[in-house]
Amino acid sequence: MHSEGDFKKDGAGAFHEKHSLSIRIWHWTTFITIASSLVLVLLGSTMFRTGDNVSLVQEQLERKGAVVTKDQAWSVAHEYSDKLWMAHKWVGYGLCFLLFSRFIIELAQPGEEKLKLKIKRAMGFKATTPAEKDERRHYLIVREGYLVFYLLFLVMGLTGLGLAFEHSPVLKDIQDPIKEVHSIVQYLIYTYILVHLIGVVRADIGKYQGIVSGMIHGKK
Ligand code: HEM
Ligand code: HEM
Repeated sequence: MHSEGDFKKDGAGAFHEKHSLSIRIWHWTTFITIASSLVLVLLGSTMFRTGDNVSLVQEQLERKGAVVTKDQAWSVAHEYSDKLWMAHKWVGYGLCFLLFSRFIIELAQPGEEKLKLKIKRAMGFKATTPAEKDERRHYLIVREGYLVFYLLFLVMGLTGLGLAFEHSPVLKDIQDPIKEVHSIVQYLIYTYILVHLIGVVRADIGKYQGIVSGMIHGKK
């Protein structure tokens, strides 16, 4: 079990924490799954947007001698976009499972690896030198950032499930607000990912060399 003293002894190295095998597997699986979900969202919101492809379907069919109405062309264009959003929904179930497994990992991890206890330990640490104070502040911002991410992830998961079960009697009348929250919070998720990537790359280039490979091999 880490103590206040360990945090001090580790100094700047407090950031070089070991990551358990379960967290490492969880992290990289989540990275791949979120990335694939984002690709589907990107395609669904751009190249395969139904409205943008209606005239394309009409033109292509006209070239082959078939004249179809806007409404008929819409059905075809919509089918392709629907395929992507269906895939997003299935990947979304995977994400919900990953979020749930992160919760279980937190419960099952040994004390010193629990995010909650890491935050508590750093809060209890009495920093004396300016360097220690800085380190402690940075450490806490990063760990609390993870908590914010998990919260945003939970909101995306719950609203995503709300959209997936749109026909349920309880959910069908509140689809609009659910969709709105899901659409807005996506930008917070993108912001988090961007900040996270910049943060870990800067850390690895700077004071915390090896932090990224630490998330792969699990050693300090
Ligand atoms: C965490 C990253 C996620 C992002 C960035 C994201 C993004 C989006 C976006 C932009 C939309 C389109 C909303 C609109 O039409 O205004 C959407 C729709 C949807 N999302 Fe997500 N989502 C995420 C996670 C999830 C999860 C975890 C689920 C859970 C099942 C989910 C299920 C759905 C469903 C069912 C729809 C409606 C699809 C349709 O229109 O048929 N999403 N998502
Ligand atoms: C979809 C993209 C990503 C998401 C959502 C994500 C999310 C997370 C989360 C939630 C944690 C904290 C895990 C915990 O509870 O302890 C974490 C840690 C970490 N991630 Fe990512 N990550 C992503 C991509 C990446 C990539 C591409 C890299 C490497 C270039 C990376 C490197 C790291 C490192 C090094 C840590 C540990 C940092 C530390 O010790 O504080 N992540 N990530």
